[in-house]
Amino acid sequence: MRELLDKLYATNSLTKEEIIEVLRHLDEADHKDVLFDYAHKTRLAHYGPRVFMRGLVEFSNYCKQDCLYCGIRASNRKVERYRLTPQDILECCTEGYELGYRTFVLQSGEDFWYTEERLEEILGLIKGKYPEVAITLSIGERSRATYERLYKAGADRFLLRHETASKELYEKLHPASMSFDNRMECLRTLKEIGYQVGAGFMVGLPGQTTHHLAEDLHFLHTFQPDMIGIGPFIAHNDTPLKGQKGGTVEDTLTMVAFTRLLVPKANLPATTAMGTLDPQGRERAIKAGANVVMPNLSPISVKDKYSLYENKICTGDEASHCRSCLEMRIKVSGFDIDLGRGDSLNWIQHA
Ligand code: 5AD
Ligand code: FES
Repeated sequence: MRELLDKLYATNSLTKEEIIEVLRHLDEADHKDVLFDYAHKTRLAHYGPRVFMRGLVEFSNYCKQDCLYCGIRASNRKVERYRLTPQDILECCTEGYELGYRTFVLQSGEDFWYTEERLEEILGLIKGKYPEVAITLSIGERSRATYERLYKAGADRFLLRHETASKELYEKLHPASMSFDNRMECLRTLKEIGYQVGAGFMVGLPGQTTHHLAEDLHFLHTFQPDMIGIGPFIAHNDTPLKGQKGGTVEDTLTMVAFTRLLVPKANLPATTAMGTLDPQGRERAIKAGANVVMPNLSPISVKDKYSLYENKICTGDEASHCRSCLEMRIKVSGFDIDLGRGDSLNWIQHA
């Protein structure tokens, strides 16, 4: 077992069987401490002690999809829906720019009110005013043609978590109208077009086993995304998964550290869901290999409406408050903030 950890550290590679073997024996001896230590050293080797800060704008909570776990799923009638206009979004980015952010992550439910034309307008407004920033889209599944057009219009990166790499588990957590194969195809298409691509998954999903998690890790190793978002599943009370046990901080940290070792050059965010379960969750993720934080820039008036899971943090906080809060947290943990574009080293290598 210790040999497998050493091999993982030395080669950044393990077979799926070896991954399962490691996961089965992590609770023995000091294996977990070794995993975290190796992940931290690997992060230092590639990114040093820097933590990139991205400004997140959650611009619409309308969604045509119906993922069983998600609070803003189409069937949830209790959600008060909102859409930000292109001007509203630009204003959020202006505030973010003044706070120092040079990457903006524009996230929404799958909302086709934002047509190609409207999305192009938004990208044009932001890039017209701030040509040097990076824009990340996180708007779900669209056609290849749309992805191509948005790339040409100035989108640099795209986040589309794979959610789970197990087709069987995916199908249990999504309605029949959603397709695991299409989601994976979208990820491959985005990479082909030239985007920096983010995948990612939830830990502690109902029915998820060690085997499923090994599939996630193995998929990430083979696909080598530029960014990987990993967070604990947290049940939302207005979804079919209400009352289900959620993921733990401990298990999520293990996945973050393991991912750092299997995809050493990826940008890995310390997710808001981690901060929601544990006041120190994001700091712990950073110490386990994460190198990105994504504080929210959305207007206070809509922040609590983008409720994917219960008790999400920071919904009452001004952007400037989160900016200084996170800077303080990062520094206290012994890391440095970096407000640059922070392109993924995985992507720079291939571009
Ligand atoms: N708990 C944790 N994360 C969730 N997400 C959606 N619903 C939940 C939940 N209940 C995650 C999904 C999605 C991302 C934006 O939020 O992984 O891709
Ligand atoms: Fe929002 Fe700390 S990051 S209050």
